[in-house]
Amino acid sequence: MHAQCIFYNINNNTMKKLLATLLVLTACLHVSAQESKQIRISTERTDLILEVAPNGRLYQAYLGDKLLNDRDLSHLSGRSRGWEVYPGSGGEDYFEPAVAITNNDGNPSTILRYVSSEQKTVEGGTETIIRMKDDQYPVDVTLHYVSYPKQNVIKTWSEITHQQKKPVTLWRYASTMLYFANQKYYLTEFSSDWAKEVQMSTQQLQPGKKILDTKLGSRAAMHMQPFFELGLEQPAQEHQGQVILGTIGWTGNFQFTFEVDNEGNLRVIPAINPYASDYQLKANEIFTTPEFIFTLSNNGTGEASRNLHNWARNYQLKDGQGDRMTLLNNWENTYFTFDEELLGKLMKEAKHLGVDMFLLDDGWFGNKHPRNDDHAGLGDWEAMKSKLPGGIPALVEKAKEAGVKFGIWIEPEMVNPQSDLFEAHPDWAIHYPNRETYYYRNQLVLDLSNPKVQDFVFGVVDKIMTENPDVAFFKWDCNSPITNIYSPYLKDKQGQLYIDHVRGIYNVLKRVKEKYPNVPMMLCSGGGARCDYEALKYFTEFWCSDNTDPIERLFIQWGFSQFFPSKAMCAHVTSWNSRTSVKFRTDVASMCKLGFDIGLKDMKADELTYCQEAVANYKRLKPVILDGDQYRLISPYESNHMAIMYAAPDASKAVLFAYDIHPRFGEKLLPIKLQGLDAGKMYRVKEINLMPGRKSNLPGNEKIFSGDYLMKIGLNAFTTSQTHSRVIELVAE
Ligand code: DGJ
Repeated sequence: MHAQCIFYNINNNTMKKLLATLLVLTACLHVSAQESKQIRISTERTDLILEVAPNGRLYQAYLGDKLLNDRDLSHLSGRSRGWEVYPGSGGEDYFEPAVAITNNDGNPSTILRYVSSEQKTVEGGTETIIRMKDDQYPVDVTLHYVSYPKQNVIKTWSEITHQQKKPVTLWRYASTMLYFANQKYYLTEFSSDWAKEVQMSTQQLQPGKKILDTKLGSRAAMHMQPFFELGLEQPAQEHQGQVILGTIGWTGNFQFTFEVDNEGNLRVIPAINPYASDYQLKANEIFTTPEFIFTLSNNGTGEASRNLHNWARNYQLKDGQGDRMTLLNNWENTYFTFDEELLGKLMKEAKHLGVDMFLLDDGWFGNKHPRNDDHAGLGDWEAMKSKLPGGIPALVEKAKEAGVKFGIWIEPEMVNPQSDLFEAHPDWAIHYPNRETYYYRNQLVLDLSNPKVQDFVFGVVDKIMTENPDVAFFKWDCNSPITNIYSPYLKDKQGQLYIDHVRGIYNVLKRVKEKYPNVPMMLCSGGGARCDYEALKYFTEFWCSDNTDPIERLFIQWGFSQFFPSKAMCAHVTSWNSRTSVKFRTDVASMCKLGFDIGLKDMKADELTYCQEAVANYKRLKPVILDGDQYRLISPYESNHMAIMYAAPDASKAVLFAYDIHPRFGEKLLPIKLQGLDAGKMYRVKEINLMPGRKSNLPGNEKIFSGDYLMKIGLNAFTTSQTHSRVIELVAE
């Protein structure tokens, strides 16, 4: 038996404590009998090996490439003492803890010892569950890891609970902690703002802490996205080098801490941001942290992204394996100015274009406070009689007549002070009782920590669906961060607002998904200020950005594609940067989930014909573009061009998208070397999406090349023309 177990403090007289003591002693005995115990969390290419040391505490022994010889695992023993997997505050570790609890007696320390572990098969992989206990306080922590062998992805989260008399204060609650021992670490972050989402930048981490976080509450990722890339020894690169891609599933304030310690080791701590969020956890209540999802690759970010895409389509994204609808949206075409007749015409235009659905955007609701601009109406989800006398049923009917599906925009978590809802329930909005209210886009965020508000928000979807079962799609928007941070409902528990609000949203989304499992929904937040893998359990896709300038979109889509599959990323053809051709704009949007948000009457006849053909091509190629493997070939960050391709998993088909952005005069152009093909197969190369009457001048067009040639020598698809694009289809003979 070990010293720490023998000298365990038994000077308390309560039965509960004695029982807890006995439990921990049992755990210690169990461990000492085996000296140290290893817990192996593996995918086909990665090993995360944890070790219960003789002192009963759990350490990370190894994280990296899969180890091939089981016998070598014994050499890991005791190697990484000090890298505690879930360190508590107040121990001998002087760096950021994973968990911090102020116990009922005011003691702010937590030291966890191993109790037991088990592994079980779950959908797609294996779940490892590790139970731990504080040896002085009735505090339990359970760590969960799900490893997905084929996709090489691990997702992990933790549960914290206790049996103390009064609530304890939780002030740190990380999802997990990971350690790395390298000479150099390079962090790539994705900073954002409205119309400037996912701006990628890389810096070397220095001793001390670098924190990526947000405090926005609802429009959670407006300034920083909840994902990062870490390059070990060198900055993360597309085709080579060791990288980690990590992302947290939390549609609220998140925090990633990267701390390089005194020995040059790095700890990565993904968590809910503890800012203004001391959480009063009641006895036996379980505090579940968000999932942290990560993948490792030795072949750069390209392979790591494919791991995540494949995993998301199979296991996380709502209807990840299902089809997606092309659409015509009316937002940029009409803004708030439309009526039933105009919408009927637009539905016919949608049909003429060849898309599957017409999506009605903001401005269809509110009567006493009509939503004719963004100052009024949010909260009053009744169709506006003056614009839409027949309500939603008439629109559904018109869509049927036109031969397209009908989708509708909502922003159910928000309220305008000018609304019936606010007049009836001012206490449902998050705002101060005693200070001047600050409005973002003239609106307030509803207090989703309040179960009555959750019912109301669920009711918005439920009412539309009950009255109109043929509504085929929702665009769920969220245009304001939480302002005036005070919940009238939580009263003296304001520290829970940021967390309980997000949990309230999930309660609503769970109910929506349970009742309407087959209704696709787009997650939108004034563009792409909300996209994380917890929300995407409930949404089939997300709106990447209000910025649809195709040049900006090349960067934005490049950024989001690091983490999300193309079928989750909505891209629409609009009139942003109409100096570029309709073809260029459409080709950029065709890399993702294609839609249009433009008046067809603004197009010339040949442009419309072009779009109709592009939609038809897209529909034919959707299985490759949306479900194939993505290869990012040429980065817009590193050149005046961009190229991405998708290959069917069996390499029978591929689509190459090549864009010239602003090439220099006389610039030296290199062929694009393809990837993901079968070297032994022969491919017919054909440029598609050509303007009517235009012939392709792609060198090698309509010729047959081996996959070997295309991957080693490549295609001369770039030109020195400004904002020029090519879509090339490759079919194995
Ligand atoms: C912000 C979204 O990003 C837009 O697409 C549009 O739906 C507007 N909100 C409507 O207010």
